[in-house]
Amino acid sequence: MDLELSGRVVLVTGGSDGLGAATAHRLVQEGAKVALCARGVERLEATAAALRAQGGEVLAVPADVARAEDIARFVDAAHARWGRVDGLVNNAGTAEAKPFVAVSDAEWEADLQLKLFGASRAARAVLPHLQAAGGGAIVNVLSIKAKAPGQHSAPSSVTRAAGMSLTKVLSKELGAQGVRVNAVLVGMIASAQWERRAQKAGQPLAVFGAEKAREAGVPLGRLGRSEEFADVVAFLLSARASYISGVALNVDGGLSPVV
Ligand SMILES: NC(=O)c1ccc[n+]([C@@H]2O[C@H](COP(=O)([O-])OP(=O)(O)OC[C@H]3O[C@@H](n4cnc5c(N)ncnc54)[C@H](OP(=O)(O)O)[C@@H]3O)[C@@H](O)[C@H]2O)c1
Repeated sequence: MDLELSGRVVLVTGGSDGLGAATAHRLVQEGAKVALCARGVERLEATAAALRAQGGEVLAVPADVARAEDIARFVDAAHARWGRVDGLVNNAGTAEAKPFVAVSDAEWEADLQLKLFGASRAARAVLPHLQAAGGGAIVNVLSIKAKAPGQHSAPSSVTRAAGMSLTKVLSKELGAQGVRVNAVLVGMIASAQWERRAQKAGQPLAVFGAEKAREAGVPLGRLGRSEEFADVVAFLLSARASYISGVALNVDGGLSPVV
């Protein structure tokens, strides 16, 4: 299946590691030009180097998506480099979650700045470029908790629900301009954050992940692989998803209790 992503310019926030880096690799395989941002310069440069070694045209911009000025600099740099933008993956994020009473105002604000305001500012910044290109696609990476929050999942699940609402609002507003906006709701997919958790538990990721998937009751019986996530994002960005907009797709091995 030809995704028709060759020569397209796609921006991936949080692209230096985990699911964002896997997405960048997938996009490079398809011949897309990819701009990545993340805060840590060393990891960002290493990922960009690996992508270039794979033959990719890649721009790496150190940026914190919780800062409005960094997002503007990231989008401007990509547009200055290639003269167009066709897609945006709002992927940068964390899984801040604790009992409601323990979440301070500062923590609520930080979570919203990073995940909700970060995504909405990036969408606003790319919009004129997508319009100039005759259309494009935005993918918001969220969590299955956006649809099915559990106890002790604030502030993350609340911010993710807002991200799902933002996805629908944008899909309604931007469709007439040829811009599709979708969300991918992640369950449990192996990434750098899962490697850090496994390390903390003193177990190899394969063992730790299998145990956590069993405990959570993932119907497919395992953690997802980052390539499985990246395939879905590449599809949603591509011409093969040209009639899909405003959806929130669970990529979770069946884990979510709701469709
Ligand atoms: N993997 C899962 O099971 C899972 C489940 C639910 C939701 N998600 C969501 O999926 C997305 C990717 O998760 P992941 O598992 O791949 O995480 P990860 O392995 O921890 O990677 C996160 C990436 O985002 C970057 N990042 C973090 N904060 C950033 C910021 N403020 N500005 C710019 N970049 C930032 C990190 O680099 P720096 O730290 O250097 O900035 C890194 O490149 C996140 O939004 C996460 O919440 C993942």
